[in-house]
Amino acid sequence: MKRDPRLQGLSSDHHQGLVLARTVRDQSQRWTPAAGLTLAERFDAELEPHFRVEEELLLPHLRLGAPALVDRVVDDHATLRRHVGAARDGDASMARAFAQLLHDHIRFEESELFPMCERLLSDEVLDCVWLRWPKTHP
Ligand SMILES: [Fe+2]
Ligand SMILES: [Fe+2]
Repeated sequence: MKRDPRLQGLSSDHHQGLVLARTVRDQSQRWTPAAGLTLAERFDAELEPHFRVEEELLLPHLRLGAPALVDRVVDDHATLRRHVGAARDGDASMARAFAQLLHDHIRFEESELFPMCERLLSDEVLDCVWLRWPKTHP
């Protein structure tokens, strides 16, 4: 099924996120302080704002209908935030763990979370998501 257009801003971020996960996985073979810094900067600029939109606009409206999905998103985001901190401080194994979890998290959101959003969220909520997070990537 085609994604609701109002979720396409978040979905197009997911494509960028999968590319980032592959890059970090490859770099983690020879993890460097520069790679850690670049990852932390990209996380703050791209992933953190995306996580906030999901946490503030999507999750509150899913808590009743899909509590297990909400718990998974919250746990994944918390773990990714922890891993990126450790990776920035030079831990290659945490860079690898970050890359794997980011990949799995994005796949989960595309296959389970967003279809549930399309089923459970009102037009009003989806309109808010679109206004706050329009599609910015090609
Ligand atoms: Fe997420
Ligand atoms: Fe996401």
